[in-house]
Amino acid sequence: MTASERSLGIMARCQGSHFVDKGYYKKLTLYGRKHGIRVFVFSPRQVNFSTRMVKGFEYRNGSWHAKEFPIPAFIYDRCFVGPSYRHYKPFVEKLQNDRNITFLGHGLSGKWQVHQMLAKSPLLAPLLPPTEIFSYPVLQATLEKYGAAIIKPMAGTHGIGVVRIKEVRSGYEASGRNRDNQPFTRRIRDTAGLKSFVSVFTAGRKFLVQPYLELHTPDGTPFDVRVLVQKNGLGKWATTGKAVRLGDKRSITSNLHGGGKATPLASFLPLHFKSAKAARIEQSINRVAEELPRFLEESHGRLVELGIDIGIDTAGNVWIIEVNSRPGRTVFRMIDDPTAQLHSITQPVRYAHYLMKERVGG
Ligand SMILES: Nc1ncnc2c1ncn2[C@@H]1O[C@H](COP(=O)(O)OP(=O)(O)O)[C@@H](O)[C@H]1O
Ligand SMILES: [Mg+2]
Repeated sequence: MTASERSLGIMARCQGSHFVDKGYYKKLTLYGRKHGIRVFVFSPRQVNFSTRMVKGFEYRNGSWHAKEFPIPAFIYDRCFVGPSYRHYKPFVEKLQNDRNITFLGHGLSGKWQVHQMLAKSPLLAPLLPPTEIFSYPVLQATLEKYGAAIIKPMAGTHGIGVVRIKEVRSGYEASGRNRDNQPFTRRIRDTAGLKSFVSVFTAGRKFLVQPYLELHTPDGTPFDVRVLVQKNGLGKWATTGKAVRLGDKRSITSNLHGGGKATPLASFLPLHFKSAKAARIEQSINRVAEELPRFLEESHGRLVELGIDIGIDTAGNVWIIEVNSRPGRTVFRMIDDPTAQLHSITQPVRYAHYLMKERVGG
């Protein structure tokens, strides 16, 4: 293998020399270096296809240094999709279409696409909340059927823009997080008021509608289970860790960015469910962790890791809430799970190493 065949570029959104997750990328760099793999961070907007060079940043001697590198043979896509992704997309696509570059995995594009793929699995489909593309009539129908609905942006993250709408005696109540991730609750008097609230709130973005599920503890604390699954050094899927994220009692979402806490799954379930039910829940979560990555990969293409958000309602039913292809790792630091913390960092490098050997061999 030549030097550039042993290079792994972390593709991220960089604003000048600023990029997020520096702590994580530093660890990837150090672990990569131990295994003879050169790791650096770059923005897809800084690639020169005629010289086949890219401007990026490398961690060395305690700090990040700006440098030019040959286009990496392997790319780890950490380019978060969000409001301004359109500025990155054409550059990302060009890299994806380059025959000399292997992506560890291709990012998932949105909640609706993922939902449609998973709905084809006989095993997973029953665990998906009924989901439809938002329109006012669809919202009305969902409210009539279930009494409460959730609307959420198709390309959302961190619980931003997730709103519960429920029928109350005096009309409706909308509560959730606005575009600035600030919690709010609003009383709405009638259908005309509801119609104008949702049309303003959803303006310019696509939303999904689901029934509101009681994904909280008996005292009303919203929670979900974050399962991190990753490819290992043999190119096989393995579960890195499972953690429960608990939101604020006054909130409807359990995202950590909304100011949440975390706790290990094994000690959490027995607190809220009888032992037979807790065991069934854990089995069901394990089946999802086993089945979902392989199934999604079949329809979507290569993936390197997934953060699967699983909801458990007050009756103990298990729901697949969201699948993230660029998952965070904070939760395993918060629950002090050193094995999960270590694996969450080493697995992507081990998988890159596996692909490097494959590429030379095949
Ligand atoms: N149908 C639902 N019923 C109740 N709560 C939900 C529902 N969908 C999402 N939530 C809550 O909102 C949070 C964020 O939703 P999610 O679909 O994961 O979007 P995001 O990309 O913003 O994280 C979930 O973790 C869960 O706490
Ligand atoms: Mg989520």
